[in-house]
Amino acid sequence: MQIWNDYLAQHKDRFLKELLALLRIPSISADSAYKADVAHCAEAVQQSLLNAGVDNAEICLTSGHPIVYAEKIIDPSLPTILVYGHYDVQPADPLELWHSGPFEPVIKEGKIFARGACDDKGQMFMHVKAFEVLAQTNTLACNVKFMIEGEEEVGSTNLGPFLEQNKEKLKADIVLVSDTSMISMEHPSLETGLRGLAYMEVEVVGPNRDLHSGVYGGAVANPINILCKMIASLHDENNHITIPAFYDKVEELSDADKKALNAAPFDLKEYADELGVQEVWGEKGYSTLERTGTRPTLDVNGIWGGYIGEGAKTVLPSKANAKISMRLVPHQSSHEISEIFQKHFESIAPANVRVKVTAHHGGEPVVTPTDSVAYKAAAKAIQTAFGKEPIPTRGGGSIPIIALFEKTLGLKTVLMGFGLDNDNIHSPNEKYDVANYYKGIETIPYFHKYFAEMS
Ligand code: BES
Ligand code: MN
Ligand code: MN
Repeated sequence: MQIWNDYLAQHKDRFLKELLALLRIPSISADSAYKADVAHCAEAVQQSLLNAGVDNAEICLTSGHPIVYAEKIIDPSLPTILVYGHYDVQPADPLELWHSGPFEPVIKEGKIFARGACDDKGQMFMHVKAFEVLAQTNTLACNVKFMIEGEEEVGSTNLGPFLEQNKEKLKADIVLVSDTSMISMEHPSLETGLRGLAYMEVEVVGPNRDLHSGVYGGAVANPINILCKMIASLHDENNHITIPAFYDKVEELSDADKKALNAAPFDLKEYADELGVQEVWGEKGYSTLERTGTRPTLDVNGIWGGYIGEGAKTVLPSKANAKISMRLVPHQSSHEISEIFQKHFESIAPANVRVKVTAHHGGEPVVTPTDSVAYKAAAKAIQTAFGKEPIPTRGGGSIPIIALFEKTLGLKTVLMGFGLDNDNIHSPNEKYDVANYYKGIETIPYFHKYFAEMS
């Protein structure tokens, strides 16, 4: 709409500057040293919502990091959109691999480089700015509620209870989230599912102290050797996970769904080249898009033990540890899979070591409908802004709270992400294209309009 384009054109530079200011706040939820920065970031989000034109915006304290809640009710008889996003970010390390400071955003070749640029400050802030466009041009068509949390990157543990305690306040017709990716600006897409997550930590303990690897080597089981062997045994020669019952609830896609999934534009060579690998890897019998979108996985996220300092130290370590995550697909339960993993891992431990397994946070997989009014409104919004129908895809990442929106609030979600897979989220040099930021701000108001019209 002309009136929105005019407003955006007029305030473009400020919209960008405001995002950069938000990116300067190191709101790392995982590291308690940044607790005050996280709180400061919540206040900055609250203020930005007030400036954009909400009726009220509050900071809701939790036993962890605060949740920002805001709303604008124009007419209770109109549909209500609940916008969810997160203002917390992942830790920035390894710092030495960044080309510029993670919290000193710079724009290079049309890309904003900063931790959180895409995940999720940049994407979340598009909703604040799109709302400003709607509110300031008097064209709001729906009521809007914002729930922006500060603990997504640490498992949203306090947001679940917040939903339970605020069912009335959070009443809405749909949840709208921009915290996922699309294929490209040329091939806009909408994710229609997210994987779940089970995250474990394991410890393998051998002798009661670190030993001289010459004096004792060969006579006492080395916990790192044992851990590596145990981990290696978790996949077979087809890269299938070997944990008994792991796949019991996993459904195979129908041939039609497989075909649709693989029809998305995807160039395997480009994919591998961009990652600097000769060849991709994965479960035999599945394409790359099937592997990330529809199959469960098991990955070591970190492994440590023994001597990792400079030079060489001969040591047979007493302990070895690893963090292991499993991505889950529909019908698998995070809790069940954690238990299955624990039992299996304990069962494969040889008698010469002791094994301890603990579960970290997890989340359930979700599939979002494509035949709903909300999905159709999102598709039409993309069609209008991009001039192309969006392609439905399945995302490989996880957003644990999404399953709880349905379970606790009875709400479906639309995943309207504008990130790109190569935005380096969670990696050094995270970026978000300025063009994607503006395109998101341009697209979101159409969702409001079409959702109101089609509801
Ligand atoms: N925004 C991501 C999830 C995501 C990214 C979904 C790209 C689809 C495409 C989210 O912030 C995230 O990183 N989630 C974590 C899980 C969480 C419990 C730490 C993840 O997927 O590892
Ligand atoms: Mn995110
Ligand atoms: Mn993330």
